[in-house]
Amino acid sequence: MSTFSPSLPGGTWTLGDLTVTRFGYGAMQLAGPGVMGPPADRDGALAVLREAVDLGITHIDTADAYGPHITNQLIREALHPYPDTLRIVTKVGATRDEQGGWPPAREPEDLRRAVRHNLDNLGLETLDVVNLRLGDAQGPRPGSLAEPFETLAELQRQGLIRHLGVSNATADQVAEARAIAPIVCVQNMYNLAHRQDDDLIDELAGQGIAYVPFFPLGGFSPLQSSALTAVAARLDATPMSVALAWLLHRSPNILLIPGTSSVAHLRENVAGAGLPLSDGDLAELDKIGG
Ligand SMILES: NC(=O)c1ccc[n+]([C@@H]2O[C@H](COP(=O)([O-])OP(=O)(O)OC[C@H]3O[C@@H](n4cnc5c(N)ncnc54)[C@H](OP(=O)(O)O)[C@@H]3O)[C@@H](O)[C@H]2O)c1
Repeated sequence: MSTFSPSLPGGTWTLGDLTVTRFGYGAMQLAGPGVMGPPADRDGALAVLREAVDLGITHIDTADAYGPHITNQLIREALHPYPDTLRIVTKVGATRDEQGGWPPAREPEDLRRAVRHNLDNLGLETLDVVNLRLGDAQGPRPGSLAEPFETLAELQRQGLIRHLGVSNATADQVAEARAIAPIVCVQNMYNLAHRQDDDLIDELAGQGIAYVPFFPLGGFSPLQSSALTAVAARLDATPMSVALAWLLHRSPNILLIPGTSSVAHLRENVAGAGLPLSDGDLAELDKIGG
């Protein structure tokens, strides 16, 4: 099993002291429908994870709320004992209800339990990176993160977490977190068509902090845009490839975690993200979210 491929598109980035490939993998889609329960094709899910590592990907994004527990258990089954170079980034701050909703779970005891569950289900003694997931399914919500973030900082001091990040956060919450403890990444919704974080991305780039867009391909409703389709057709590429390549061009601190439950899509995305884009292509694509 190969563990590192310098030829992955985008090269590498360093989260604190942890080097990751900028092309990562988002594991959410491996659970069952609505991110609840086991996948219909369990062997297929395990194969996607093994293929990600074989392709040289060293950054997997997950959460114990996926399934719940299922996605982390699949990661452990497919990849444990983990290659030395593999970094698993998880998030806490939301749980699941019986309807498949994602209610917040940010009381100190919720967060301690979630960190324990991540450690147990992933089979780890320390979590590489833990994001505090804020807001709700509609997006970030204003308000102080001091109490939950201080709880995570305490778990970090106890050695259970190596690095911290925030997710679904406003710029004010990012600043508030940084005043409490260093962060290595921000994981918010961002893609060609949803560019509300443009200023935040540039600010974080200047501070050496990674920006990790979730829903890089549009999430549950894949990106649709006539301009994207036109650029892709001209380049003889798929719209997904162009969307990923655009993100890699957008800023050096952007790390990709596209999700897929398909080995074929994973290979296609890795190959496509290296697509060269000219200044003209970029200008046309920039107008989509403008
Ligand atoms: N922090 C948060 O609140 C939060 C929220 C959502 C997600 N996330 C993280 O972000 C990651 C990425 O988000 P996501 O997976 O929901 O959305 P995404 O990466 O934007 O899109 C995934 C969807 O695109 C499809 N897809 C992927 N490659 C394709 C291809 N080459 N051709 C056609 N369709 C393709 C997948 O279907 P197939 O399975 O058929 O390929 C899947 O339905 C997640 O895995 C998760 O780790 C975080």
